[in-house]
Amino acid sequence: MRELIAGELIAARERTARLTDCVEDHDLTAQHSPLMSPLVWDLAHIGNQEELWLLRNVAGRDPMHPEIDPLYDAFEHPRSERPTLPLLPPAEARAYAHEVRGRVLDLLEASPLEGTRLLTDGFAFGLIAQHEQQHDETMLITHQLRRGPVALTSPPPPAPVGADRLPPEVLVPAGPFTMGTDTEPWALDNERPAHQVELPAFRLDTTPVSNAAYQRFIADGGYDEPRWWTPEGWKHRLQAGLVAPLFWTEEGGQWLRRRFGVVEPVPPQEPVLHVSWYEADAYARWAGRRLPTEAEWEKAARFDPVSGRSRRFPWGDASPGPEHANLGQRHLQPAPVGSYPDGGSAHGARQLIGDVWEWTASDFLPYPGFRAWPYREYSEVFFGPEYKVLRGGSFAVAPVACRGTFRNWDYPIRRQIFSGFRTACSVEGD
Ligand SMILES: [Fe+2]
Repeated sequence: MRELIAGELIAARERTARLTDCVEDHDLTAQHSPLMSPLVWDLAHIGNQEELWLLRNVAGRDPMHPEIDPLYDAFEHPRSERPTLPLLPPAEARAYAHEVRGRVLDLLEASPLEGTRLLTDGFAFGLIAQHEQQHDETMLITHQLRRGPVALTSPPPPAPVGADRLPPEVLVPAGPFTMGTDTEPWALDNERPAHQVELPAFRLDTTPVSNAAYQRFIADGGYDEPRWWTPEGWKHRLQAGLVAPLFWTEEGGQWLRRRFGVVEPVPPQEPVLHVSWYEADAYARWAGRRLPTEAEWEKAARFDPVSGRSRRFPWGDASPGPEHANLGQRHLQPAPVGSYPDGGSAHGARQLIGDVWEWTASDFLPYPGFRAWPYREYSEVFFGPEYKVLRGGSFAVAPVACRGTFRNWDYPIRRQIFSGFRTACSVEGD
């Protein structure tokens, strides 16, 4: 367990370094979008949360620099305000995070992994490894929003074989399944507790919606037809002037997209990316379908009708490997639809984990029996109808921060995130 924890902490820090060493200091301190913090804020915030949870709460140590705590409290200053704060400059932010990490690795060697709820199964360490990886995804979004020379590169994902022969949708029969978890040691409070959910039969797209399919929606005037949109969605579509996914531009009748500083033709077979919930919902209605509920998504991803139990992942209980899913920023884009046959679910759906976060129809709400842990600000303060749930994780999510039970949430207007979707429909007569 100690080795596994150390490995996750080190992997997260290597990724943080890749994301922050590839640009000059002025790019770290600049604000590339009012939606995002300067990268240097994330860097010191990662160290500050690690110090708070592991050195202070677990080990009972005194704060190292109490004067900087308020600067890095995500609830005290909205992202747009953070560049005006007296933040640690890049070299000092790196040194602080490095100093904390050294002390944490010493603590990990000496500390029992039982006795308190924070220590049991290394929960607090797992929380911190996930937290750093979540900020790495946030920093990757900042890179996507940043203008300027290309800083990050990676090979494209491998092309799928026989994807054109896949059935367009899979059937998930009616019946109960276990949603959420009591047993996943590093699952966060909002994934708990496990509970039975009874669902009618439904059909779900085998893969996420592709750019080619989404372009048909655009070409068919989908952005000009209020009937496909909810009233709030249509209002937002007009106000924000939406005509296509974020980062898309049309030139000479061809759609181009900007991806980490590179402008390229929109690849037709890739899952559509950078769409808001409103756009996903409008597309689904145009297609004569709807977004899946969160429970439908999880049942399609986890339920094994043969054993009657819910798996950790669509393919089984094994942790994600490169053969299962496009995770961990191995590639800087989603894989073409129909990829990863070894990552398919019991019902035959593909790419439920990795590639793109998938919008669901559901509001972010607590499961029956929810208890906030280890702090209310992780999930509880966000519960309510203003947030929609996203599932499955994107290519930018690390395996440690990804599970069949993992829940993400955001405003329905958000689209700088790595968001896509798939559609569903109810089965007649059920
Ligand atoms: Fe954070």
